[in-house]
Order: sequence, then structure tokens, then C-alpha cells
Amino acid sequence: MSRIQDIQELRRFYRQFLEIQRDILVAYVRKAKGADGTDNLNDQAIEKIYDAYYRPSFFVFLRDLKTAIYSASIFDFVKIIARDSEYGAGFVEFFEKTKLAKLDKNGKVIVLKKDLLSMLPRVQSEEEIKSTIERKLGVKIKANASVTDLLKNIKVFRTKSKFDQLPISQATAIFEVKKILENLPLPETFLFVGDDDFISVLLSFADPNISSLVIDADEELLASIKNIAAKYALNIRVKRADASGKNVVREPIVGFLCNPPYTYKGVKTFVKYGVKNFAKDGGFVILTVGDEAVGHRFLALQNFFTKENLMIREIAKGAAAYPFTELYPSDTVVKKKFLAAGISEETIKTAPHLGASVYVLDYIPYKVPQDKLRQSIYTYL
Ligand SMILES: C[S@@+](CC[C@H](N)C(=O)[O-])C[C@H]1O[C@@H](n2cnc3c(N)ncnc32)[C@H](O)[C@@H]1O
Repeated sequence: MSRIQDIQELRRFYRQFLEIQRDILVAYVRKAKGADGTDNLNDQAIEKIYDAYYRPSFFVFLRDLKTAIYSASIFDFVKIIARDSEYGAGFVEFFEKTKLAKLDKNGKVIVLKKDLLSMLPRVQSEEEIKSTIERKLGVKIKANASVTDLLKNIKVFRTKSKFDQLPISQATAIFEVKKILENLPLPETFLFVGDDDFISVLLSFADPNISSLVIDADEELLASIKNIAAKYALNIRVKRADASGKNVVREPIVGFLCNPPYTYKGVKTFVKYGVKNFAKDGGFVILTVGDEAVGHRFLALQNFFTKENLMIREIAKGAAAYPFTELYPSDTVVKKKFLAAGISEETIKTAPHLGASVYVLDYIPYKVPQDKLRQSIYTYL
């Protein structure tokens, strides 16, 4: 079967999954016999509630499906995605009806339709990603060293402060690749809004099936990525674009990563650029951002996420770190202060100097109505 036919088949399974989950919710409310008024709801009203508040997008369904497949058991899956075992039981029913998979006695999902499900990008551990990169590049990963050091034998890249560039640590780059792989629903276009950390290259090493598009304002950076992609036959396209410009590159994407300037305007501009490429199937965002120049404006950023229909799914606080550089005059001032306090130059140069958090946001491709129904704090509907 072609890839298009495979995706069509996955869509059919998605519709079946929604029907099963809708029926489960109706049956649950019927059995609950609450004294809170939910007994008066007819099936259509309950189904409407399902569609408004629980219906996953196509991409979230695929992510849950692959998370279930790669979890140690269906119970582990429920814990990983922070849901209840009723949702897990819905998947079990779905597997039985579709013959896509079955469960062993420990609750591990055994895939039956391997040809179809193997197209979902595989979840990988940091250890696995690390050893693949080491093997392909013939280097040893140094967790706290700069990510650009990994590629310096292939391509010398000059970090430029005029584009607010600053390379993250190698351990952070591996973490970001892991997060992308955990969330990717399909091996369709994944967008990088800026990529001075060369994550597109590392992602392709980890999974050559993934197709990436990198947009950046820095032509020299794009040329470097293009060269590396040609040398290793990686599926990466590059396009010069200004995230704050009017001519936004538009094409369907499954998700995007951005590591914007750590300012209110920077986060808004970069995230907005990516979100414009989402459509009715949903999508996810990996956003790396530190608090340095956002501060309490983060409240306004939360509002902005809501306006863009982005729901915070995960925050890995402090998961990103930056090795020391002397790119800006302020870096030298800070170094002098540490030296004056008696800290050795060696310690200063090998320690992280900027921390940031990695956010995973889900794009909800529907308008979510205001909830007028809830009757009591114990109404689980
Ligand atoms: C904004 S920098 C941030 C890097 C770093 N992690 C930090 O926090 O300082 C990330 C990427 O965005 C690119 N970039 C900067 N300004 C841009 C713009 N207006 N449009 C598109 N890309 C831009 C940079 O070239 C770089 O590759």
C-alpha cells in the first residue's frame, strides 16, 4: 500500500476509535446514576460533551496509539499520558475490534498489523539516540559541551549574536530529539522555526524516515544544514524566511520546534509563525524558553497560547542548558564576577550558564465551547 493509502486507513481506524470512546462515555454516565442531573442527559447530549471536551485530534490519537505500543504495558501507558484505566480499556476494545494489536498477560501491547503501525515514528530513549549519533558522526557525546562541537569536523559554523544565536548543550539536543520522537504522529513534515542547534540533523540521524523543513533568517546556517543533509542523504529542506515577516512559508506540518529569543515578543512571533501551518488534524509544539527576559509577562504568554488554541501538555523545567560562551559583552562581565569570587576559569567554562525549560504544547484544531453543564464538583463528565 502507498503512504497515502496507509494514512487513509489510519483515519478509518481513528473514526472507529472515536465511536468506541463515545460509547464508553455514554455507558459510563448511564451507570453512574448520579444525583447531579447527569441522569437527565440523553445520548446525544453526552456525545456532544465527548466531541467538545474529549475527542482527540487525529494526531493526538496517533500519538496515544504509538505511546501505547511502545509502553511497557497498557497500565504504564495510562500513567505516562496521565489518564485513567478506562481510557486504556478503550484502547484494548479498539485493538480487539480492529485486530491491530492484542495484549499479553502482563498487559503489554503486541502489534499484529506491523506493516501499518511501523510507520508511526518510533519512541527512542536518550541512550539510543546518543549512540546512533556517535556512530554516524564518529564522535563521543560530551553532555555539557556545545551542540555545534559535534559537527565541527564536517562544517565550521560561526554563531552570530545578531540572530540571537547561542548553541545548547549536547545533552539538551538529545533531549529535544527524544521529545520530538515521542510526539511525532507520522513521518510527515516537521518544521523548525530557526535551527542554530542543528536539531534537524540529529533528528534525521536518529530516524531517517522523518522529513524536516528548516526556516531561518541566517543564510549561512541554512547553507551549513543543506551541506550536511547532502553529505548524509538526510531528508531536510531549508528555506530562508523571517519569522516576523509577512511572507510566511505555508505548508501542512505535523509539528514544529522553536527556540525563540527569550522575550515576550520573540516567543509570540516564533510560535505564531509555526501555528499558522497547522490544520484540522492538529499538531504539537516543542518550545524551548527560559525566563530571563519574560518574567511575569509569562501570564500574557499563557493567554496567547490559549488564543492560539495551544494547550500546555508538558513542562520539563530546566531540561535545557547552555554551555558558557563569550558572545555578548555581558558574558565577559559575568565571567569576571565569578573569577573575582574565586571560582576557577575551568569550572566557569565547563558549567552551564543559562537554563531553560522545554514545553510541549498541543494544538487543538477545534473551538472548545464554554462548559455550562457541570452541576457539581464530583460530576466526572
Ligand atoms: C532566536 S535563536 C535563539 C537561540 C538560542 N537558543 C538562544 O536562546 O539564545 C534561534 C534561531 O532563530 C534564528 N532566527 C533569529 N531571528 C530570526 C528571525 N527573525 N526569523 C527567523 N529565524 C530567526 C536564528 O538564526 C537561530 O537559528
